Amino acid sequence: MIYLDNSASTYIKPREVIKAVNDSLLYYTANPGRSGHQASVKAALKIEQARQHIAEHFNTECGQNVIWTQNCSQALNLAILGCAQKGGHVITTENEHNSVLRPLEHLKNQGIIDYDVAYQKDARGITLDDIKPLIRQNTYMVICNHISNVNGAIAEINTIGAFCKEHNLIFVVDGAQSCGHLKIDIWQSNIDFLTVAGHKGFYAPQSIGCLVMGNYYRPEPIVFGGTGTNSLDLFQPDIFPERLESGTISTPLIMGLHAGLEFVERNFNEINGKIDDLTTYLNYELSKINDVTVYTHPENAFGVFAFNINNRDSNEIANILNKKYGICVRGGYHCAPLKHKALGTLDQGAVRASLSFFNTFSEIQKLIHAIKHIAKQKD
Ligand code: ALA
Repeated sequence: MIYLDNSASTYIKPREVIKAVNDSLLYYTANPGRSGHQASVKAALKIEQARQHIAEHFNTECGQNVIWTQNCSQALNLAILGCAQKGGHVITTENEHNSVLRPLEHLKNQGIIDYDVAYQKDARGITLDDIKPLIRQNTYMVICNHISNVNGAIAEINTIGAFCKEHNLIFVVDGAQSCGHLKIDIWQSNIDFLTVAGHKGFYAPQSIGCLVMGNYYRPEPIVFGGTGTNSLDLFQPDIFPERLESGTISTPLIMGLHAGLEFVERNFNEINGKIDDLTTYLNYELSKINDVTVYTHPENAFGVFAFNINNRDSNEIANILNKKYGICVRGGYHCAPLKHKALGTLDQGAVRASLSFFNTFSEIQKLIHAIKHIAKQKD
């Protein structure tokens, strides 16, 4: 099998991640935040070490700025719903996932906010010029996907972040497809909230993510419950991260994520270079095939590649790749409806091949070969 659906979840996990999860189930099984005994403290320490390491990786000031969530979607919901300002206005982009669009639409339908969508003028990706004309007096937040999960387009987050800082706008970056793959410094890029998916670029198990916060804004909780602190108090605690972390936190998943982060840091240049090379190679080869339409920009994309063969349904192509060639890609729509509208793929969706460090040059050659073959069989 050739697995090229790493934007959904990376398939191969580093040995270190598996060992960390295994160790957690052997030695760190006590509840990490509820009791003062040694077993609980031992597990809690592992969680705090991971929190601190995530903070250092993204250059936020301290571990308290890292909030564990179940996934990137939850982190986005926390930032969007938790910072909603009645009567306010939000700007987002055509590249967003439904985990941004749906909470925004929900807030709009409740009469709480209004929002506008920035569409790319430049085929390469979202730039500040796309955002600027949409600013209103009541705009309080800009939400920008860093790498599109549909076609890999990279947004210019540095210039957008600087603009947001200058205009006191909350800047939210969806890092689902970029964390672990690109260097992100939330201080330098003026990001107020960065959302992380553990099971993608950090090779962690599914169901662990986090919200990395800067120093200036704090969302209100959107989930309430036990935090292991101030147990007699009916109000959610004021301190962070507890205020935003109700319910038992998963030691196995966080230890897995921490091991994945260490793996990425040890191998960052190789990971970054290899995925970049494979994306470029795939683009170069598929762009030469007449029957193939490529939706990924040759110079401004990373790890995610989208295409179609003539006007054939993308799910049909994905099924052929799976059944006949043993190649796993994703067809159809990728939970990003506005991106499909912008690319003109609302009818057929798009075939998406997405890469990880563990993919090889030979696997990409096999994909190219299979696509050439399928393209020849016109039906
Ligand atoms: N958001 C994930 C994807 O792009 C699941 O496939």
